Amino acid sequence: MKSISLTIDGKRIKARQGESLLWVALDNGIYIPNLCAIRENPEPFAACRLCFVEVEGRERPVTACTETVTEGMVVNTRGEKALRLVRSGFELLMASHHLDCAHCPRSGSCELQKIAKHIGAKLKPKHLRVLERNLPIDDSHPEFIYDPNKCVLCGRCVWVCHQRLGVGIFGFAHRGFERVVTTFGDEPIAASICENCTECISVCPTGALVFKDGKSQSVKEQ
Ligand code: FES
Repeated sequence: MKSISLTIDGKRIKARQGESLLWVALDNGIYIPNLCAIRENPEPFAACRLCFVEVEGRERPVTACTETVTEGMVVNTRGEKALRLVRSGFELLMASHHLDCAHCPRSGSCELQKIAKHIGAKLKPKHLRVLERNLPIDDSHPEFIYDPNKCVLCGRCVWVCHQRLGVGIFGFAHRGFERVVTTFGDEPIAASICENCTECISVCPTGALVFKDGKSQSVKEQ
């Protein structure tokens, strides 16, 4: 791939033509909020809508995970138009998130806390009413717990289980506010074909999938 240079937040960066803008930025120490991207997935889901940035010459902000870098590109990750979209998306997400940082094993390494800090937002929405889903927690598995009330529907666990491991115990069910990540037939995880690799835990950006025994809960860089 051809080597090119671009500018992100005033920093001159070398990259390869066609690389994803999100990974180029992250690899160069420039944080862009993201929940659903997975490096090895060539077709980003672009589901979380939190990676908006501004690109010179573009009328509207673009999602960094679906944008590829080109020679001379000038990117602003802190533009007001992009940040407004990110803040709104984040607030919407948090309006149905079960917020319990004080007791959450992921606290301190949770991507939601990182994003809130980055965009200067509160974890508890200021403008929206919180609508908790009160879904049952699945603690049937001997090693981990799945709490769908903390799931942000990023799809990472679904993807790693299907694509990376070829198993596929998780999938999406229902639509709109009812949308949820669940097992086939909504059966307990312990009754599914889970092979105990726990890759789903390492990719989960929140406290939705956590170990029972308090093992390291840090989110693996995707
Ligand atoms: S990381 Fe780009 S939309 Fe989620």
